[in-house]
Amino acid sequence: MPESTALLEVRDVVAGYGRGPAILNGAGITVEEGRTHCIIGPNGAGKSTLLKVVSGLLPARAGEVVFDGESIAGLRPDEILRRGICFVPQERALFPDMSVRENLRMGGYIITDRADLDRRLDEVLEAFPVLRERGGQRAKSLSGGEQQMLTMGRTLVLRPRIVMLDEPSLGLAPRIVSQVFDIIRLLKDKGITVIIVEQNAVVGLSNADLGCVLDLGRTMFEGPADGILEDPRIRELYLGKRAGAA
Ligand SMILES: Nc1ncnc2c1ncn2[C@@H]1O[C@H](COP(=O)(O)OP(=O)(O)OP(=O)(O)O)[C@@H](O)[C@H]1O
Ligand SMILES: [Mg+2]
Repeated sequence: MPESTALLEVRDVVAGYGRGPAILNGAGITVEEGRTHCIIGPNGAGKSTLLKVVSGLLPARAGEVVFDGESIAGLRPDEILRRGICFVPQERALFPDMSVRENLRMGGYIITDRADLDRRLDEVLEAFPVLRERGGQRAKSLSGGEQQMLTMGRTLVLRPRIVMLDEPSLGLAPRIVSQVFDIIRLLKDKGITVIIVEQNAVVGLSNADLGCVLDLGRTMFEGPADGILEDPRIRELYLGKRAGAA
């Protein structure tokens, strides 16, 4: 076995906003190709901040971000996107008054070859027939689950290697949440590496291969998701009462 098979290696990251204090202080994650990773941790732990650092929206003050064997720390967000790392932020950011098709097209704004973009749009509509049906409809008229599908479909236009989803199930009814995880499985089946931040740790970890526990800006634990779910100490500290009921 090679020493490291990591597609993305984030190590000892220190980062904060503006001149403010460090929010991340020793955060990291080892991301394996083709696997689904779930980051859990309390509110304010720095989960979203970590994804912002990886996507280039927030510079790291120290530490390493290595993707596919090359450091990507300091690259602009669009450069990181071009390399194949797509970030879907917590606030979904669809264009509400634009149609489903137009939203998908916006997802491919860095693709300048029109024929290529059309092929990619077709590929996404193939994967999400509902989006084809609703192609002409305004994004804001879709249900919450459909909007989430559109958000994910939009990232697929770029044929990403890694998709990072910040709380994709936030505010969705349980039935729709299970649809969101169906889509995440579809991403995985396409060979895409997925990183999700999930407030409901039990649901998130149950749908992931690997887990990462972040607290106080630091990575406390990383390992197989089922191991995290079964670890009595992690259950007590981070999985709350829900774990007992699961
Ligand atoms: N733009 C910002 N400017 C200043 N401080 C920020 C900014 N965004 C986040 N923070 C602070 O960074 C800390 C970590 O926030 P972050 O959003 O990364 O946490 P989180 O783990 O994603 O929490 P949640 O589960 O609530 O989404 C918080 O104390 C927050 O107030
Ligand atoms: Mg967050």
